[in-house]
Amino acid sequence: MAKRVAVTGAAGQIGYSLLPRIAAGEVFGPDTPVILQCLEITPALGSLEGVRMELDDCAFPLLEGVVCSDDPRVAFADADLVFLVGSKPRGPGMERNDLLRENGPIFIGQGQALADVAAKDVRVIVIGNPCNTNCLIALNNGRRIAPGQWSAMTQLDHNRAQAQLAGKTGSLARDVKNVVIWGNHSNTQFPDWTHATIQGKPAEGQVNDLPWLQGPFLKTVQERGKAIIDARGKSSALSAASAGIDHARLLMNGTSKGEWTSMAVVSDGSYDVPAGLLCSVPVECPGDGTYRIVKGLEFQPFGREKFDASVKELVWERDTVKDLLGS
Ligand code: NAD
Ligand code: LMR
Repeated sequence: MAKRVAVTGAAGQIGYSLLPRIAAGEVFGPDTPVILQCLEITPALGSLEGVRMELDDCAFPLLEGVVCSDDPRVAFADADLVFLVGSKPRGPGMERNDLLRENGPIFIGQGQALADVAAKDVRVIVIGNPCNTNCLIALNNGRRIAPGQWSAMTQLDHNRAQAQLAGKTGSLARDVKNVVIWGNHSNTQFPDWTHATIQGKPAEGQVNDLPWLQGPFLKTVQERGKAIIDARGKSSALSAASAGIDHARLLMNGTSKGEWTSMAVVSDGSYDVPAGLLCSVPVECPGDGTYRIVKGLEFQPFGREKFDASVKELVWERDTVKDLLGS
């Protein structure tokens, strides 16, 4: 049976890169047909119609339908997987949480609509920024959907950390395993190399340059989104959509044995993160849409301090949007 995949902000930059990859079978595989259910604001429906025409023109063998609507209850109806992308991106000189008050309210109505009309075992992935706290808003307004069915995307940061370590050591991104993104999808996150391996050997020894790891590596990953905005004049889209595909594929099809990825998920209190906060941690996915938080990893004092600062920022974001969290 076809999987129904809803994408909000479908006429935007990320939507344009994400939709064809879902339709090509990159999330559910080559044997599973998909129906795309696209949500946009009313003024963007004309542009969305153009995207629909292009999707038709791709003649994707797996694509069994495209729904376009400005009504979340239509776009989310019976959805199995939902990418919440639609929201404003930051511009030059802004931090992602400058968008909290503008984008946060979008996730109230969308959380409620998801709870009302999506499939019972829907999985929701929040990409729109600030994604950790937007996800917190949506899940608090859509409580019929269990906390474990929601996540926000730090896969892009995870991929960036892998790419930086590969570049530094002259290896390939695929040779780098088990980095971790801890905390917020913001410039306070801690991209952790201490458990990572490159071609099976500890990354720290392979890099052999602790000042680089604690300095340029850390800063580059934390600030990559800003660097792309400065270079392109627009925020990342191709890499963001690609990370969205990775996040969904790993969630639905599983991480490889002995490997994990990073996702912002509801804290169960592990690593001293306040329970209920939407925080990025390492997760293993068995391949059925669930995840397990990887427990028991140890921190050096340097990393613990960075992670604590990021958690503190998440607590601040949560407190700032208290009025949007439902009753
Ligand atoms: P964009 O401006 O190109 O597209 C956003 C689209 O969302 C627009 O077409 C807009 O009409 C639509 N939209 C706005 N409000 C909506 C609503 N209430 N319902 C449905 N659609 C709505 O932006 P983009 O580059 O595609 O980025 C989208 C979001 O993703 C931004 O918030 C951006 O910061 C974020 N982002 C997150 C990550 C991440 O790693 N988590 C990476 C890149 C971008
Ligand atoms: C990114 O990390 O590229 C996105 O979150 C966009 C941004 O505002 O940095």
